[in-house]
Amino acid sequence: MFKPHTSTTLQQDLESIFTSIKQASLDIYAMLQKNLGEYTESTNVTGDTQLQADVQADIILQEAFKNIVCIKQICSEEQENAIPLHKNGLYSIAYDPLDGSSLMGANLSVGSIFGIYAGDFLPQNLVASAYVVYGMVVGIGFASLLKEGVDYFTYNGKEFDLQKCLRLSNKGKLNATGGTQKNWSKAHKMKIESLFNAGYRLRYSGGMVPDLHHILVKGGGLFSYPATSDAPNGKLRMLFEVFPFAFIFERAGGKAVFISELESKTTATPLLELQPKHLHDTTPCYFGSTWEIDFVSH
Ligand code: AHG
Ligand code: MN
Ligand code: MN
Repeated sequence: MFKPHTSTTLQQDLESIFTSIKQASLDIYAMLQKNLGEYTESTNVTGDTQLQADVQADIILQEAFKNIVCIKQICSEEQENAIPLHKNGLYSIAYDPLDGSSLMGANLSVGSIFGIYAGDFLPQNLVASAYVVYGMVVGIGFASLLKEGVDYFTYNGKEFDLQKCLRLSNKGKLNATGGTQKNWSKAHKMKIESLFNAGYRLRYSGGMVPDLHHILVKGGGLFSYPATSDAPNGKLRMLFEVFPFAFIFERAGGKAVFISELESKTTATPLLELQPKHLHDTTPCYFGSTWEIDFVSH
């Protein structure tokens, strides 16, 4: 467990990291406006064909982080290995430079996701997380150990304004669930159907940033990307997508769990207690307000 900094140092360090994320988000937004979602001929470690925009967003972020001396290393969904930055730096940043990039051609919102770890890339070392939604405006959600709730900022053409501190109520109305439905487990199918039968509405764009942001802004609901028979470890990546949002949902007063169903016994484990073996490991995941997560956990 990482200890050695004071909260003042942590605050200053997070401010410099957050400032660089804000600047980079504007550069990425400008890049997206000149880009129509063209693919490259290369694939990333997970086997996804990269878009030109995935690669360009990654380069913008590498440039943004490289001069920040408190950063020890960075690791991106688009790179096989972590990139060392400053020997005496404390923080490791894992990021998804462009989430939901396959939606670009459809002109839907895409995002970026950041996990900021004090020490190595382990979920218990998370001190802050951020996401950027590139939509009608650039919006940024930022959560840290220094404060409860998720501060949500939007860019007004000159600077980022704090809109509100996002917190989840006990229960919501939205139900967002991914994965190929014919390959869902019976248990997952039953839980999702019961929520719809209880009046929940489907909201799923296929971009986890706007889908999770939607739940945070509406104050509750469930997002799930379950284990399926064709992808028993789910699709979403622990370090670049799952842990940062698990931290954000917990700071917002919600929950984030991994659910396993073995011999008809359901076990829910907080996502932030999982131990990745490799940088690009994936996991099934459930994020939501307390009532929904307790409901799917039994
Ligand atoms: P990425 O664009 O970084 O590869 O991530 C896409 C992810 C995530 O945003 C979304 O929730 C999920 O893929 C959607 O997958 P399905 O199309 O299988 O639902
Ligand atoms: Mn992604
Ligand atoms: Mn991505």
